[in-house]
Amino acid sequence: MKYINKSLSIERVKVQDIAKKFGTPTYCYSFGQLKENIDNFKKSFKSFSPLICFAVKSNTNITLIREIKKFGLGADVVSIGELMIALKAGINPKKIVFSGVGKTSNEINYAIDKKILLINAESESEISEIERIAKYKNKIVNIGIRLNPNIDAKTLKQISTGKKENKFGVDEKTFFKVVKYVGLSKNINLKCLSVHLGSQILDHKPYEKMLKVIDKIIKKSNHDFEFIDLGGGMGISYEKNTKKLNYQKYNIAIKKFLRNHNSKIIFEPGRSIVGNIGSLISKVIYIKGNEKKDFVILDAAMNDLMRPALYGANHRTIPVTKTNQTSKKTYEFVGPICESTDKFTTLKKFQKLKEKDLVLMCDVGAYGMSLSSNYNMRPKPTEILIKGSKINVIKKRQKLKDLI
Ligand code: LLP
Repeated sequence: MKYINKSLSIERVKVQDIAKKFGTPTYCYSFGQLKENIDNFKKSFKSFSPLICFAVKSNTNITLIREIKKFGLGADVVSIGELMIALKAGINPKKIVFSGVGKTSNEINYAIDKKILLINAESESEISEIERIAKYKNKIVNIGIRLNPNIDAKTLKQISTGKKENKFGVDEKTFFKVVKYVGLSKNINLKCLSVHLGSQILDHKPYEKMLKVIDKIIKKSNHDFEFIDLGGGMGISYEKNTKKLNYQKYNIAIKKFLRNHNSKIIFEPGRSIVGNIGSLISKVIYIKGNEKKDFVILDAAMNDLMRPALYGANHRTIPVTKTNQTSKKTYEFVGPICESTDKFTTLKKFQKLKEKDLVLMCDVGAYGMSLSSNYNMRPKPTEILIKGSKINVIKKRQKLKDLI
């Protein structure tokens, strides 16, 4: 993304032209950035060639999933819907892992029928249910067990999953019980230990700690795990010049771990694959002010991009066409929804805006569209994929008649 003659472009397409042709709000994804992210991710861990299962929850656009599949990635899914879309996108079932604390019988049934790589169970009850269904079908099902390592991922409380107060996984005691139990079962095969500490992790130390914990536990359990699924969570820089996750150190820690364990590593990245490929184009509807600040009312709202309202997330917001005038007032960028949390960001010294101007919110490729809703009866935005100068509409704007 760059300005050419003061006009913002994504790859070789002018953002202004996209808005003109497809309207706003519109999600745009850059194929070039997607490729770069996947290449970098693979390169970071190439010495042990992990199985990379894209966390579909971060972006469920089928065309994007198809593109991701072409790079050889598998999928991490958390519902029958995600499993269906991953299969429809052509992902090999032998590269699909199924996570989540509340898989229903119906979902387990379907996953077994589709012969996916692993069902990563999160409780003793779930394991009993998988066993019951496997027995009924007279099948042997490969499962993983998700350990809750009780580690602080040093990320936002709302997206932290690896501490004992979180609902995810089983504690150490239950883990040993499960290993023993599954060892005696004829219908389930315990092939994987899985963990996932949380999301938007920028410090490698929690990962190092996690590896130490699982190293100890595996040795104590005396069970050989064919797979170790380390989850996802690798954070991205939402602001310029902020801390970056040190992949090199994470890689070193995993290599050290693998000296003692002959297992295949699985990752479940979402944000690090698609986060920075997406932007949301939006138009200023009105500007209204008081003596201190101006509310810039955009045509995008919290239903299109929930992260600011839900987590206080801040997405870099930039003008689509640059001018040399700066506003003297603080701008509060808001949407039209009837909630005070329908607010994106507050910026000082932003370029002076007028009604109908376009702005772009950056790094919305992960948990942007996938968290969107129809709140206030607002149709979901268009999604487009840009490859060089080519534009592909990968999801049409919802029509009001589909909502009524
Ligand atoms: N694996 C499991 C089991 C997960 O629960 C998640 C994310 C991932 C992998 C992928 O994590 P990632 O690499 O994308 O960090 N809506 C929040 C993020 C919630 C993450 C939920 N689980 C946000 O917008 O920040």
